Amino acid sequence: MLDLLGSLERTHRCGVLRKSDAGATVVLMGWVNRRRDHGNLIFLDLRDRSGVTQIVLDKELCPAAHAKAEHVRPEYVVAVTGKVRQRAAAVVNPNMATGEIEIEASELLMLNDAKTPPFSPAEEAIGNEELRLKYRYIDLRRPEMQRNFELRHKIALAVRQHLSAEGFYEIETPFMTRSTPEGARDYLVPSRMYPGNFYALPQSPQLFKQILMVSGFDRYFQIVRCFRDEDLRADRQPEFTQIDLEMTFPQQATIFRVVEGFLSAAFAAAGITLPTPFPQITYDESMRRFGSDKPDLRLPALVDVRSAFAQGDLEALAIDPALPVVAIRIPKVGELSRKEREENRPLFDLRKGAKFIDDLKRLEKSFPDAANKIRVSTQAEADDLLIVVAGDAATHIQASDTKIAGRLSEREIAIYSAAGSFRMELAKKYAAKHGAFIKTEKAVQHPDSVPGSEAFFPIWVTDFPMFEFDVESKRWMPSHHPFTSPHEEDMDRLVSDPASVRARYYDLAMNGLELGSGSIRIHRKDVQSKIFQSLGMTEEEAKERFGFFLEALEYGTPPHGGIALGLDRIVMILAGAPSLREVIAFPKTAKAVDLMVDAPTPVSEAQMKELHIQVRKT
Ligand code: AMO
Repeated sequence: MLDLLGSLERTHRCGVLRKSDAGATVVLMGWVNRRRDHGNLIFLDLRDRSGVTQIVLDKELCPAAHAKAEHVRPEYVVAVTGKVRQRAAAVVNPNMATGEIEIEASELLMLNDAKTPPFSPAEEAIGNEELRLKYRYIDLRRPEMQRNFELRHKIALAVRQHLSAEGFYEIETPFMTRSTPEGARDYLVPSRMYPGNFYALPQSPQLFKQILMVSGFDRYFQIVRCFRDEDLRADRQPEFTQIDLEMTFPQQATIFRVVEGFLSAAFAAAGITLPTPFPQITYDESMRRFGSDKPDLRLPALVDVRSAFAQGDLEALAIDPALPVVAIRIPKVGELSRKEREENRPLFDLRKGAKFIDDLKRLEKSFPDAANKIRVSTQAEADDLLIVVAGDAATHIQASDTKIAGRLSEREIAIYSAAGSFRMELAKKYAAKHGAFIKTEKAVQHPDSVPGSEAFFPIWVTDFPMFEFDVESKRWMPSHHPFTSPHEEDMDRLVSDPASVRARYYDLAMNGLELGSGSIRIHRKDVQSKIFQSLGMTEEEAKERFGFFLEALEYGTPPHGGIALGLDRIVMILAGAPSLREVIAFPKTAKAVDLMVDAPTPVSEAQMKELHIQVRKT
């Protein structure tokens, strides 16, 4: 019943024929998207990655092919020979790129049949994501997925071309290596040759790329897989791809220029103009204005409205007067209903010490003076939602509250972050409902209808603190990684006052998402040793973990720095996708499982024995 392909060759893809091709004899091959049987006429929509073409099988013109088409079902693979013909005006389909033509078939080969798929690639994505991932090969046939991977390819290619033109070499670094500290757990690979020894899969190529600078390669990049065993979210996968780069003798500005260049090339590949240079903001300023180190510039900034309240008001509201009183404005969302207000209260119970005061409309009743001043300082319009949050005088925010000259204290940061995450949650929750603001719609619907750059807001965040205090381990931890250079003028406070030290560390954020992180590195062994010391590492520990690297620093290491951007995140944002799983061909679930191949799985006793591994059952 199935036909052989023989020597038949395809002449065109399914999405490319137009009116101007009318009269040509063509051979198309692909999957049957839909079949409609009108008796003497059978219509097949034939699909491949480029699109869909309508095939007409007329019983009178090609009885044998028509008879065969009666048995064809969706997802069968067929080859069609026929003539391109212009459709009559009444049946032109303006929603299809090939909607002005159809193929009058003369021959049909049934190359393969198909079981009825668990869902149709001709339809929108089904809600059951587990099924989509188990039958990923069918899910990937959907035009939306095909477009996402075309986009991913174009972006990676544009980045490679741009960086190559800027003098960067792509150099591969090992996957079987030692642990690289990027803050996650390692995936380990047992060694058969050395019982009890393990390779670690790299969390990033960090140390190798720095060593490539020691080796004089000057400018390195790599589009590289990284592996991290960490809690997964929509924007995190256990294996993901970085656009990783490093350069010798850079200023921070040099690195920014390179990134702005390749990122605008990547966006241009998707038809979007990204104006450069990108704006910059310091970490402190970003916390103050956006309550986040990855600001979303699509919403207005936060405003400290403490001065709008009289001392008595603050007391009446049980507001901690030592902390900012922060106004959040979400344009066009309007007032929340009583039910919505109640729904949101629990969000605040989770944030100890931060308190939901009220929205402006209700404040106006009890504190008209303050409300007026707030309206002016936030420039709130009548149809905006404006909410005020503050420190709770009763349940003081727990933090050491060391205030560093010109910097925010930890308690201030806590209030701003509570307001910042509330701002994002409210915007996501109500903006769609009220038809305003955060753009959740697809950014790239169709190659012919791309939006302008008004949908994408990149911003550099600079001067992060060098260390963060980890409450659990009661230790200072590096905010980035321990190879990041402190500011030269803060160097003498490394051990005496670690909280006040700024790092030469920067992030690139876009629309509330962290796209990349990097830093100017430490290139001197004495400084690197001092950092390890301020992280509470003994000399022996440092030598045991990073001895090879400390040694390399002693053989003429130039000043260097770099950055890594998440390729998956760039594609996700450009595709308007809600999760990385839409732009990674074979992703893991949120529980780190590959449902298609069914991994991880147990291995045979023999394999375990060979690897000297015994599983402890606890
Ligand atoms: P960092 O750990 O910040 O820095 O990672 C850089 C960028 O990689 C992306 N990313 C991820 N994407 C998907 N899933 C994940 N689990 C994941 N983790 C990180 C993000 C992030 O901004 N070696 C340093 C860079 C440097 O200093 O040059 C590093 O890896 O987009």
